[in-house]
Amino acid sequence: MFRVYGSWRHSLHCLRRFSTQTSHEAGRYRPRRAVMYVPGMDKRKMEKIPSVGVDTVVFDIEDGVAVDQKGTARYMIPETLAQLSIPAATEVTVRVNGLDSNLTREDLQVILEKSPDGLPEALMVPKVQSAEDVAEVDCMVGEFRPSAKHQPLPLFAIIESPMGLLNLRDICYHGIYKCEAVRLQVIVFGSDDYLAMIGGVRSEDASELVFVRQSIVTHAKAYQLQAIDLVHIDFKDLTSLKRQSQEGAWMGFTGKQVIHPTQVGVVQEAFTPTQDQITWATGLIEEFDKHQKLGKGAFTYQGRMIDKPLLLQAKNIVNLHNAISGRTNS
Ligand code: COA
Ligand code: MG
Repeated sequence: MFRVYGSWRHSLHCLRRFSTQTSHEAGRYRPRRAVMYVPGMDKRKMEKIPSVGVDTVVFDIEDGVAVDQKGTARYMIPETLAQLSIPAATEVTVRVNGLDSNLTREDLQVILEKSPDGLPEALMVPKVQSAEDVAEVDCMVGEFRPSAKHQPLPLFAIIESPMGLLNLRDICYHGIYKCEAVRLQVIVFGSDDYLAMIGGVRSEDASELVFVRQSIVTHAKAYQLQAIDLVHIDFKDLTSLKRQSQEGAWMGFTGKQVIHPTQVGVVQEAFTPTQDQITWATGLIEEFDKHQKLGKGAFTYQGRMIDKPLLLQAKNIVNLHNAISGRTNS
């Protein structure tokens, strides 16, 4: 389905995927190329996190945890966070149960009150359907983590229902401009719940999900948020994972959800600028400056017309490269 139409179109696809900078985040851009779930009651898996090298880890209390284990996970996550030395390059988030469950409030209370200072660094909320849902989460977080004492907690909202998709514009607006205790930064696509809700069937090339994926990217980018693509559940097939990760990157997603450590390297590479792209972007920025001084807004670079939009895309590549290498070096 995602054909490469020719080398210049391919280059543009590759460039667009790096138009990721978000103005709603304090400080520098945080790459979230792979976002990996680990069940919150599985001590052995949680203890592996420091060595995985994933950009974002999600300690899960929702669907990765059986109903009778949710209370255990709720307390085990803060205990484990206190014991583990997770590198600063890995962002620590917790996925609580959704508002449809009547478990959200207790999840938030235990996680926010019992976790070590500064953790979790972000919160993931599933099954977000409306701006009212975001307001309710903001209210609960404010109760257990008063905003007067803290910066707003970065929020990941999972969209996994038709109603959530229809209301996504309001969700983005409310999560960015109307909240006090949380600040929406990331929209995540929950594809399997979405398919269950519409009565669809998952196919190998995920063609049934193209419309939703594009809608998620469109809304997220309209509000300068990050957009995280669907999980590749066939976790042993790294070839199709690579293909699906590249498709997601070309569509404009900034990262992808993963469920297994072997998926992390493949996914992070697909969302990282290549050396060729960095060289292209660096050269373009230099040429742009030279031509500006000569009074020229448009000029030819490597056989193609260049003007300001291409400069901005080139800067995105260089900024993303710097953000990633800065983290790797630290
Ligand atoms: N986080 C950390 N470590 C993980 C992991 C994860 N998500 N998934 C697997 N591992 C570890 C395993 O513990 C194992 O190490 P060990 O042999 O030293 O114990 C190693 O990686 C290889 O695992 P493997 O045997 O291939 O898989 P598994 O049968 O243990 O687990 C899954 C397979 C799918 C159950 C597991 O990957 C998982 O639970 N993933 C998360 C699922 C989830 O949260 N879903 C909800 C969100 S979509
Ligand atoms: Mg889900």
